[in-house]
Amino acid sequence: MTLIDELDSLAQTATTTLAAVANLAELAEWKSTYIGKSGSLTRLSRGLGSLPADVRPTAGRQVNLLREQLESAFATAEERLRIAAQQAELAADRIDVSMPGRAPALGYAHLTNQVLAQVEQIFAEMGFQVTESPEVELDEYNFSLLNFADDHPARDMQDTFYLEMPAGAPSVLLRTHTSPGQIRVMRERAPEPLRILLPGKVYRNEQVTVRSEMMFHQFEFLAVGRHLSMGDLKGTLAYFAERMYGPGTQVRLRPSFFPFTEPSAEMDVSCFLCGGKGCRICKYAGWLEIGGCGMVHPNVLRNGGYDPTIFSGFAGGFGPERIAMLKYGIQDIRLFYGGDARFVEMFG
Ligand code: DAH
Repeated sequence: MTLIDELDSLAQTATTTLAAVANLAELAEWKSTYIGKSGSLTRLSRGLGSLPADVRPTAGRQVNLLREQLESAFATAEERLRIAAQQAELAADRIDVSMPGRAPALGYAHLTNQVLAQVEQIFAEMGFQVTESPEVELDEYNFSLLNFADDHPARDMQDTFYLEMPAGAPSVLLRTHTSPGQIRVMRERAPEPLRILLPGKVYRNEQVTVRSEMMFHQFEFLAVGRHLSMGDLKGTLAYFAERMYGPGTQVRLRPSFFPFTEPSAEMDVSCFLCGGKGCRICKYAGWLEIGGCGMVHPNVLRNGGYDPTIFSGFAGGFGPERIAMLKYGIQDIRLFYGGDARFVEMFG
């Protein structure tokens, strides 16, 4: 085969293989095979020297011409493949603007805090001031100063978490109710008349069940003045009940016992669902039990720094979780602090 024939056949194969090149990597390979330093064309051009002098210039021109052709074909292919690669990359990165966005997780006020905020609002309307007292409390404030005798069985009404204290230190506990706040406020303010609301966490060393948690909330209300009577207590409760459960809600007091009140009562409200006729929520009683209350015991007034022959007072302690459970038909108190965000969102 003459050099010219070889050039022809090279031109043919180089052109057909170039047409089949699919990407830049294959193109680089094509380049080194045909027009690279050790490619076919370079190899053929080395044969020019051994050609007879009369055909050498023509053959030389042919080699140069083919090199130009192949180089320009290479440049065109390179351009085409570069654009294709870029487009493929863009397609892979494409943003689907119709795709629904990821909603940011919003925070909501916990149901307990919502109820407490409502309670605070209602009591504020009656002139009660909101304040707080410690969750870690002296045994004395939680029990003795509230008129629990040392051996009084009422101490067992509330299973208590005690703190480990150094020998000789006073007994310290997680408060089992918000009532010790009564003593603290009275001692701070006596002999001023008082209208105080004390919301906060309380703790009981109890088996956790659908009905009881180790930690829950209470709000304590306390009024101390010169002429306060059971009638004032009932009026306060009636206003609270109507504002909390709607106009027409009735209040009923049933005799009960607490060491820190005399007389003591359980407060019921007429069922907000059936209006007192009887239904599933009120277990066909027509009434819902809300919490304890009463007239502040003279010993408690005295422990707070008030002379019980001059001052009287009323108080009560209710649970916002219980209020919320009744209001929304929540069957399991563990849902409140189980940490499932869906519960919080449900009431968001
Ligand atoms: N401290 C009581 C409890 O946790 C609730 C209570 C009852 C508070 C009567 C009061 C009250 O202030 O007068 O069970």
